[in-house]
Amino acid sequence: METADRILTLLRREPIVSGEALSATLGISRAAVWKHVEALRAAGYRIESHRSRGYALAAAPDRLLPAEIARHLETERFGRRLECFESIDSTNVYAARLAREDAPEGTLVLAERQTRGRGRLGRSWVSPARVNLYASFVLRPRLAPADAPQLALAAAVAVARTLAPFAATVPVAIKWPNDCLLDGKKVAGILTEMDAEVDRIRSVVLGIGVNLNAPARAFPPELRTTATSVLLATGTRVDRPRFAAALCATLEAVYDRVVRDGFGAIASEWESYSCLTGREVTVDCSGRRSTGTVRGIDPVGRLVLDGANGEERIMAGDVSIVNGYRRKL
Ligand code: BTN
Repeated sequence: METADRILTLLRREPIVSGEALSATLGISRAAVWKHVEALRAAGYRIESHRSRGYALAAAPDRLLPAEIARHLETERFGRRLECFESIDSTNVYAARLAREDAPEGTLVLAERQTRGRGRLGRSWVSPARVNLYASFVLRPRLAPADAPQLALAAAVAVARTLAPFAATVPVAIKWPNDCLLDGKKVAGILTEMDAEVDRIRSVVLGIGVNLNAPARAFPPELRTTATSVLLATGTRVDRPRFAAALCATLEAVYDRVVRDGFGAIASEWESYSCLTGREVTVDCSGRRSTGTVRGIDPVGRLVLDGANGEERIMAGDVSIVNGYRRKL
């Protein structure tokens, strides 16, 4: 652990710690303690100096700093290698590069802002600075390439499970395949990108965007009726480093389960969040449209539709609810 992180650990243990005690515990001079405290202040920590009594940690910055995330991290692999950026084009693009350079499974790339955030189906992902979570994980699942779509469904369960306690007053929903909603508006999206041979996955980059503390003005006007954040839906701000660590833990558990036992093992949990079951929908699958009533999801993650010509199972597509929300979510 670096000296600055050790100073933070000591300041978190007691309301006030003297410069003398810090210097003795860390084996550095009082002047060196002061320099580290100044550096921490420059990084955004509010550290008060109480004359002749010492230092007190008044507040940590609202930043996705590795040390702030590591403090809450309880995983074995996910988030253990972590790179955080103030600004990046896309965390998925950077994570794909790390994956090609043999980064271990669970490697996490985070950014405070993305300049070219990528969404599903060639869309962009609006990524304003210092309010949300933009995360990409490197995965190395031992799955057949055809089973990779199950990972995005599993990630939706992990995001919904992680969101639930942070958005306690509003139920979290999943819209197939993997959008998470609060109040019927999109709060999180998932984009998986795979590098595979015919019969073997080399790596998957799992990109997750979660709107946490974004105010309405952070979204372009055309998205304001369809997108939301935890803050907008619940009125409560999210501690972003704590959320990032919680997501790592949930994702590691859900991912390990699905790789071991298949999506069927968590299909009932996925269904418990689904906002589509029993609804009449239209699914646009690369230009081919299917309409019917949603029966549920099958053990490999296909949407089961009761249509005019009987049952249909759909692997991928874009869903809109008939007579439901006024616009496509
Ligand atoms: C969607 O269209 O619903 C998927 C959105 C995925 C956005 C995330 S943000 C972190 C990661 N980096 C990207 O460029 N995209 C994903």
